[in-house]
Amino acid sequence: MTLPSDDLAGALAALLALPRADQPEAVRALLARMPPAADEPWNSAFGPGSLYEAFTQTTAARGVHAANRAVLRPLLDARPGFRVVDVGGGAGTLWNGLLRADDRGEIVVVDPHPDGATGVRRAVPPGVRVTHIAAPVQQAALPDADAIVCSLMLHHVAGADAAARAAVGLPGAGKREVLAAFRAAITARGGRVLLNEADVYCDVGLAPGDPLLADRLLDSYVRRFAVSLARDLHGCVDPELRARWIAILRDWSLAQVGLAAGASYAERDVYELDVVSWLDLIARAGLRVEARGFTDRWLLFHQYVLGVG
Ligand SMILES: C[S@@+](CC[C@H](N)C(=O)[O-])C[C@H]1O[C@@H](n2cnc3c(N)ncnc32)[C@H](O)[C@@H]1O
Repeated sequence: MTLPSDDLAGALAALLALPRADQPEAVRALLARMPPAADEPWNSAFGPGSLYEAFTQTTAARGVHAANRAVLRPLLDARPGFRVVDVGGGAGTLWNGLLRADDRGEIVVVDPHPDGATGVRRAVPPGVRVTHIAAPVQQAALPDADAIVCSLMLHHVAGADAAARAAVGLPGAGKREVLAAFRAAITARGGRVLLNEADVYCDVGLAPGDPLLADRLLDSYVRRFAVSLARDLHGCVDPELRARWIAILRDWSLAQVGLAAGASYAERDVYELDVVSWLDLIARAGLRVEARGFTDRWLLFHQYVLGVG
């Protein structure tokens, strides 16, 4: 029997009342009762109508962007002709309503997705030049910057550092090397790094198939994100947005628990750290935490404002 969308909050509450060891199986059972995945053209891009654009309208995502705008606006005011590097720009949501018509400056978007700068371009006034480095940040030469924004992106880079990656057979730079490159890019201008990530450990220290990995993924994707999204759904009267949010809940939240928990290191694409691990890594990259805090009341996403240590 397919589950009506109005019953989702109740179904989630029942699931989360179970012993934690039983919750991954209950996630699979709930998924089987949800509307099946359609062939969704909105699932693969960032533009209007995409699932990603619907994600940016959730309470959890809005908290991230609002917190970043609150830090960036005074920083840009103090630096006319600013240069900001937006790493993993995505739909460009951060920039919606942030800049004024008379702002002058430059935004360098680093994002391997071919549309990675389209949303940013749409959102900024003509006096702000947008350039796109269409490459993973690990391969990009970063220019000197007044600010680097790296929002919900660094979890795509597996491993705390290159050594942690090498230990599981992955070549190349890990998170610490990327943070060190950010440090180098903000040093000349005395700039800041804005980092946003979920507070949950699911990095390479947890091997594919480890039951603890499924539990940690469930912690962020279900115990925090799905529950907050169910609350959003309860208040949403737009049928089209509801359909996209339900697809997100099914495909990005519940399904992610099983998929990511079983995927090989090379296939998994979420490698989060908890707040304490981030703080350790930030210090090891030579950066100093000037401010930090959760940006939603589900204690899912954490914002770190960083300067040169
Ligand atoms: C979850 S989205 C976040 C978008 C946006 N920053 C936000 O906060 O809404 C992740 C973005 O990071 C990009 N991305 C993934 N791997 C990356 C990498 N290695 N270097 C730079 N960007 C990457 C994706 O293409 C996508 O645009």
